[in-house]
Amino acid sequence: MAKALVCFYSRTGNTRKMAARIAEVLAGEGLVVDLKKVEDTAPAELLGYDCIVLGSPTYYGTMAWEMKKLLDQSVKFHGKLRGKVGGAFTSSANIGGGNETTVLDILHALLIHGMVIRGDHRFDHYGPVAIGRPDKRSFDCCEAHAKNLAALAKKLFP
Ligand SMILES: Cc1cc2nc3c(=O)[nH]c(=O)nc-3n(C[C@H](O)[C@H](O)[C@H](O)COP(=O)(O)O)c2cc1C
Repeated sequence: MAKALVCFYSRTGNTRKMAARIAEVLAGEGLVVDLKKVEDTAPAELLGYDCIVLGSPTYYGTMAWEMKKLLDQSVKFHGKLRGKVGGAFTSSANIGGGNETTVLDILHALLIHGMVIRGDHRFDHYGPVAIGRPDKRSFDCCEAHAKNLAALAKKLFP
């Protein structure tokens, strides 16, 4: 059974709510899921998962340093994460507040690791975003993202 990690940073709870929904849907799709704060996640733990989904609030148009730290430390395992499924999500205060650049910044790192990512033609294209507290629209995007990633993970890691 494919194993997934949903790893997030959240100061005021918005990104955490998205993470919880994504983890719940991944589990509902049959994956074994761990939901962890980035502060409690050691870079070596990334090796143990087939699917890694990272979430951070948008800080100045990119991820919080806590998430960047995990990614920078993951260089120790460069080449070892290749082929795993990856995804990203964020919460920002404003619609044009840099949420897509945040998601893309996380995805860039996952791509450099050689991970497999999945876009969406209908819901948030790069990965779910919320404006402040996640609303129904955001949760729908979290659900769609989790379903996309679960389908891919089950195909690649049956
Ligand atoms: C240091 C800092 C920088 C921020 N930068 C942005 C930003 O560039 N654009 C934006 O829309 N919101 C920005 N915000 C607001 C947060 O992204 C927003 O409140 C988010 O929902 C917080 O997520 P959390 O509840 O998971 O901590 C910033 C907040 C902080 C504390």
